[in-house]
Amino acid sequence: MSDWKKLYKERVTSADEAVKHIKSGDRVFLAHATGESLLLTEAMVRNAASYEDVEIVHMVAMGKGEYCKPEHAKNFRHNALFVGTPTRQAVAEGRGDFTPVFIHHIPGLLETTLKPDVVLLQLSPPNEEGYCSFGISVDYTKPAAENAKITIAQINKNMPFTLGDSLIHVSKLDHIVEHDSPLIELKPPTLGETEIAIGKNCASLVRNGDCLQLGIGGIPDAVLAGLTDKNDLGIHTEMFSDGVVDLARKGIVNNARKNFNTGKFISAFLMGTRKLYDFVDKNPEVEMHPFTYCNNPIIAGKNDNLVSINSCVQVDLMGQVVSDCIGELQISGVGGQVDFVRAASFSKGGRSILAMPSCVKGKGVSKIVPFIDHGAAVTTSRFDVDYIVTEFGIAHLRGQTLRERAFRLIEIAHPDFRDGLKKEFERRFHRSYPSK
Ligand code: COA
Repeated sequence: MSDWKKLYKERVTSADEAVKHIKSGDRVFLAHATGESLLLTEAMVRNAASYEDVEIVHMVAMGKGEYCKPEHAKNFRHNALFVGTPTRQAVAEGRGDFTPVFIHHIPGLLETTLKPDVVLLQLSPPNEEGYCSFGISVDYTKPAAENAKITIAQINKNMPFTLGDSLIHVSKLDHIVEHDSPLIELKPPTLGETEIAIGKNCASLVRNGDCLQLGIGGIPDAVLAGLTDKNDLGIHTEMFSDGVVDLARKGIVNNARKNFNTGKFISAFLMGTRKLYDFVDKNPEVEMHPFTYCNNPIIAGKNDNLVSINSCVQVDLMGQVVSDCIGELQISGVGGQVDFVRAASFSKGGRSILAMPSCVKGKGVSKIVPFIDHGAAVTTSRFDVDYIVTEFGIAHLRGQTLRERAFRLIEIAHPDFRDGLKKEFERRFHRSYPSK
């Protein structure tokens, strides 16, 4: 038996035994998003009574987030690098914290301010040389594993063996739990008329041969649906979902004209269904990398014609963009938004698009506003902003005066709110609103 197989056997344990290595006061990182080991998180929560003040750190939460429940307030404290549905209430009620951070800074923080004591992983079974793959979550999960004092890994045959900078040797795993369970899946969203119209407007800014970064949700999926008449598209992104697989199968996305990493899909994590996870399994065209590579604006910006498409919550008339909070309420995080807005600005021929419905669904509130809500924080500044898109059109803001920006934004606001915004235009710029 080769050495690694012997090591592997010696380190196999149960989930309940493995989590006993977490100590009070430890900082525990969970693998990111769909990569989270629900088995290990649940075992840790079962063992809650043994811990005090364990700091649970992660970005997007896709599990149950039970460590955030009020009854566990003494055992766990959540530090969110991106607030998600299961963790939002804890942060809002002061039982959890939010750390604002650009994604490409996270791996550096793992070596310093946020050094983990323990990391809970979910990996593919090892290959012949004893390397497991981080599969669908390489992002910060690999750097967390490399910097943690203790690594605990669920080995799951359902985790695809992805390639790129995505492997860890069995000798680096302290405790191994063998368990095959379905991975967390994210079903494609249902697209409404508004999303489809926004998708078409965004797609009109995409040219054949462009390299794309797409965020998560209805709008990026609607953009993908609007790209069926394009060709030779490429992908350099932080994440992608099932929609990209459909375009790849049609030959629309083939990475052929990428000037950097030609022929390769570059991503840090994946969120989709089994269809996506099977597509990336041992696929030499897909390279998974940590955030230091995917999200570093200087590296991503080496792709010519990089087009980034992300969503936002509110835009004021100067082009200041709020994407991660509603007033004081923290609803998400910066994610890769600013990383890719800047990457696109470094890219020769690059464009960055921030897209949103003109109104808050069902609430009759305009998302284009004179002033951002009290307590809200700017995510993408007026200095970084490029294109804003709604279902009513496209406002290109970069290089434009404040007056021209306000005009272009009002033209893509919901018609019900344009008169009010025009009054604000006239007050602010001391002139009549221009007739077209
Ligand atoms: N005022 C009040 N409420 C608002 C609002 C506004 N201006 N804009 C949105 N909301 C509410 C919505 O009504 C919805 O509430 P609900 O959950 O009760 O239905 C909620 O906020 C989320 O809005 P929605 O439009 O459904 O969000 P989404 O799922 O399309 O996500 C973002 C949009 C902006 C929150 C999300 O894209 C994000 O977090 N972006 C920042 C990070 C990023 O860009 N990452 C990119 C790479 S992944």
